[in-house]
Amino acid sequence: MMIEAIKVRRVYGEKIIEFLGRLNLIHRGKKIKKVDDFIIIPLIRKPSEEELNLIFSHFQDAQLCMDFFEDKFSRPRSIAEVLRDFMSKSELNLLPKSFDIIGDIAIIEIPPELSSFKHLIGEALMKVNSKVKTVFAKKSAINGVFRIRELEHIAGVFSSVTFHREYGCVFKVDVLKVYFSPRLSFERYRVARQVRDGEIVVDMFSGVGPFSIMIAKYSQVDVYSIDLNPCAVALLNENLRLNKLRGWVYPILSDANYTVNLFRCESFADRIIMNLPESSHLFLDEAVRLVKSGGIIHYYCFSGDGDPVKRAYLKLVEILEECGVKDFSITSMRKVKPIAPYKWQVAIDIKIFK
Ligand SMILES: C[S@@+](CC[C@H](N)C(=O)[O-])C[C@H]1O[C@@H](n2cnc3c(N)ncnc32)[C@H](O)[C@@H]1O
Repeated sequence: MMIEAIKVRRVYGEKIIEFLGRLNLIHRGKKIKKVDDFIIIPLIRKPSEEELNLIFSHFQDAQLCMDFFEDKFSRPRSIAEVLRDFMSKSELNLLPKSFDIIGDIAIIEIPPELSSFKHLIGEALMKVNSKVKTVFAKKSAINGVFRIRELEHIAGVFSSVTFHREYGCVFKVDVLKVYFSPRLSFERYRVARQVRDGEIVVDMFSGVGPFSIMIAKYSQVDVYSIDLNPCAVALLNENLRLNKLRGWVYPILSDANYTVNLFRCESFADRIIMNLPESSHLFLDEAVRLVKSGGIIHYYCFSGDGDPVKRAYLKLVEILEECGVKDFSITSMRKVKPIAPYKWQVAIDIKIFK
């Protein structure tokens, strides 16, 4: 159907859209057209004489015309919006409000009460987010030495391998075989910004290398990246080829418990990253031996209720004492991400003096 429209030279585009918007004249459900040097803006109604005079006095070559316009496709904004005709109100209230996106794979936690809707929920998620091609549902908590969880494919193409981009880096990830969290992206960036050229960095639990790679992307450094999971180390090797790095990253398939042995010396590193929050305290003595005086340990742990950062700090002080550390200063402490109700991952940066 033809509708009223205003045709004007493109150079006035932004100004007239704002002007017509203030008069509440623009048809928001139709697409604006561009023809040669002109734009044609669809209107919801014919402007009054007074409105037309206003328009023509501000935009001298503007014309009122009739034209055909395509509908704007409006994407649903939530899973609940897609599923409102399929579920009861109480079921809609149980729907998860958030999910993780790694590359083009989404990972969602579906409450047991909604398990019969899991495929519908997966399809709805893909409608809400056009980037998502595959949806997995969480089947277990993160567990085991490799820190992975069981997943069930519920929608889209079956593929567990994807390429995740953040802060100018790209990481190849297999969500069924390695740990990866997109929620740590700012934390990685925060750490990478602190690193200076010439540093020796040890990433004790590197996974596919997101910390190591982001650090070597921005600085001319040597990064030693250790992990026990052979799949993670294989992907780290691939990721080194995918990213143009300023520094060097050396992947090591090994147990971080023998780090000092690996390097055959103590006080070797300017910076150590310990992203194994549930058990990094068990490796702190090794990290303390490996770090230079004045070097930094980026320590991660889980902490609960009340003031999680303060709790984590008090626990850390005890562990440092057990490791024989006499002199240290804390350069930063922050909550990184919630991992369960009332439970947080906390990051503490420790400067060690020997
Ligand atoms: C929480 S993930 C962190 C991975 C990576 N740093 C990241 O941010 O994506 C911990 C990693 O530590 C590895 N890991 C667990 N125990 C280890 C050990 N004793 N020595 C070396 N790596 C270990 C696991 O395989 C896993 O990839």
